[in-house]
Amino acid sequence: MKCRACNTPIEPFMSFGRMPLANGFLTAEQIPTEEFYNLAPAVCPQCSLFQIMEQPMPDRMFHSQYPYYTSNSMAMQKHFEAFANKVKERDPLFVIELGCNDGTMLRHFKDIGHLGIEPAANVAKVAIERGCNVIQGFFDHKFAQSIIGSDVNAVVAANVICHVADLPDLAAGVRAVLKDDGLFIFEEPYLPAMLNRNSFDQVYDEHVFMFSASSVRNAFSRYGLYLMDCEPQWAHGGSMRYTLGKQRDRMTDRAVDRLLLEAVLHQPGTYQQFKQNVERAKQQLRSTIIGLTKISQKRVVGYGATSKSTTVLNYCELTPDDIEYISDTTPIKQGKLSPGVHIPVKPYSEFQNNPPDVALLFAWNHREEIMAKETGFAGKWLNYVPGVSLT
Ligand code: TMP
Ligand code: ZN
Repeated sequence: MKCRACNTPIEPFMSFGRMPLANGFLTAEQIPTEEFYNLAPAVCPQCSLFQIMEQPMPDRMFHSQYPYYTSNSMAMQKHFEAFANKVKERDPLFVIELGCNDGTMLRHFKDIGHLGIEPAANVAKVAIERGCNVIQGFFDHKFAQSIIGSDVNAVVAANVICHVADLPDLAAGVRAVLKDDGLFIFEEPYLPAMLNRNSFDQVYDEHVFMFSASSVRNAFSRYGLYLMDCEPQWAHGGSMRYTLGKQRDRMTDRAVDRLLLEAVLHQPGTYQQFKQNVERAKQQLRSTIIGLTKISQKRVVGYGATSKSTTVLNYCELTPDDIEYISDTTPIKQGKLSPGVHIPVKPYSEFQNNPPDVALLFAWNHREEIMAKETGFAGKWLNYVPGVSLT
């Protein structure tokens, strides 16, 4: 296979094995038709872009039953309001948000020209109900042709660009809609944060890429979008917000420093070390859970049926025998089974009314918000990011 950005041949450095769709929560009747693919990451030796070899078709992942609503977390609501305000400091006339989900960020642009483009019909509908202008569909170069001429000075996105496999086409589309002095500002989970914290569950079908400043610079400059700035963010356990423009050689000192800091990403040993760390985490998590349930007779329950949990549960081969259920506040996930290993997803009230001995924290990226809410929980927390621990 070839790198999606620069066409250099790439090889996977490890495999997580057979995986279902990360957000493929399903009913018992749907089990016979459940889809799987091989989850294996690779790093391009030329442009250093971290990517998965195989990705299911986009319309299998982003559809009318997409179970992720950005507004589910209060902390993320605040984060995206701040993101929008930062963009508005530049006095843009017209902002396009790619993958606007339920309008959590887009609604803050309602007082200026704005347009959201969102492929998942159910979440797009919520954004429209919030008074946002939204077109339901996938953004690509062809789509961009239909909105050229809108004087777009900012294209923004959050946790979206890493979902789009056809990076050259996306970049061409963004370049086409943006005015010459316009900016493309997007934030995504940050590869070095994943490597440092061993948050291997960031690797799943929707995350076709895990970006770094180096790979963003290399990949997008081929298509006429040049890295200008990058700002670290706390979201998703460590993200980076990238600002790109159409003119070359406009990098801030901060971006230059960041590229220097990332030298380690160009060494193959970095990924061999990650592979070893991931394999160790699997053994530790499995033995901890088996010890808790089979030896100590404790009840272990998952907290947050995150898309990331699909990688953990399937890679670590954890089943309803090990994890009684997963508690989640999202109505569309409740009453369903988790992808692949089929652990029941139950409403949060189940967790409150019948608390387990141990809660396995799948939603570790919302840790602060959850700990503030769960001060009354008398059981223990089982964590696997940054390492396996019981707290
Ligand atoms: P995310 O890690 O992809 O943001 O998904 C978080 C999931 O966890 C989402 O399904 C909502 C759920 N969740 C809870 O069940 N309780 C909570 O307190 C929070 C913050 C999230
Ligand atoms: Zn490449």
